[in-house]
Amino acid sequence: MRIPFVAANWKMFKTVQEAFLYAKEFAPVVKDITDVEIVLAPPFTALHTVAEALRNTNVGVAGQNMHFEREGAFTGETSAGMLVEAGAGYVIIGHSERRTLFGETDATVAKKIAAALSADLVPIACIGETLAERERGDTLAVLDRQIHDGLAPAVDPADVSKLVVAYEPVWAIGTGRTATAEQAQEAHAHIRRRLRDQYGEEAAATCRVIYGGSVKPANTRELVTQPDVDGALVGGASLDLNAFAEIVARSRRDTV
Ligand code: PGA
Repeated sequence: MRIPFVAANWKMFKTVQEAFLYAKEFAPVVKDITDVEIVLAPPFTALHTVAEALRNTNVGVAGQNMHFEREGAFTGETSAGMLVEAGAGYVIIGHSERRTLFGETDATVAKKIAAALSADLVPIACIGETLAERERGDTLAVLDRQIHDGLAPAVDPADVSKLVVAYEPVWAIGTGRTATAEQAQEAHAHIRRRLRDQYGEEAAATCRVIYGGSVKPANTRELVTQPDVDGALVGGASLDLNAFAEIVARSRRDTV
């Protein structure tokens, strides 16, 4: 049975002080929820502070991005090793905002995933189609390309169980427009089929595939009850502590 995985992607929101107060208040609220893997992804400036605030709790910390090189003259970048040292156990890779606003490609995503895995960071690898691609009927082909070029070259069979794949239809991110439960399930089942083709039945069955795109408390249940949806990557709604705690609680298997 896959343990549900729910992550808060704070994007470029929250100062160090705001992030610290949230983490301190959030941890006790979710302390008894041990059947969901819970992760906060603060901005880099707050990462170490949040990790310290969450030390010895059941809440993990993720970076929102990383560079694939170990170190070097890459102004503005952060390596996997730096994230680990700052207290992260996870890293979001290839978010659609990184792809569309910062020029990331499947090729850079593959390098980042490989570097994350070798630094013992759990990659939360984001894939998903744009509205134009969905309207052209290309959704599944886009997912195939992103898996084939972005994930497969970086992930060995032994690493599949460590990987988290986030299916985030770009048209649903920050728009208030969520994929229907059926649309999400169709995409997730397809992703799992491709993982199965690539890595075999057993490995594919262990990989968490989570949904992202306008997840809120009110739509969490219908999404996470789909057989191939294993949790959520939450942007806007995760900025509110109570809303995010509610999403975590509604992602538990025994309550669905
Ligand atoms: P949203 O963002 O929940 O605000 O749509 C999700 C994401 O970008 O990961």
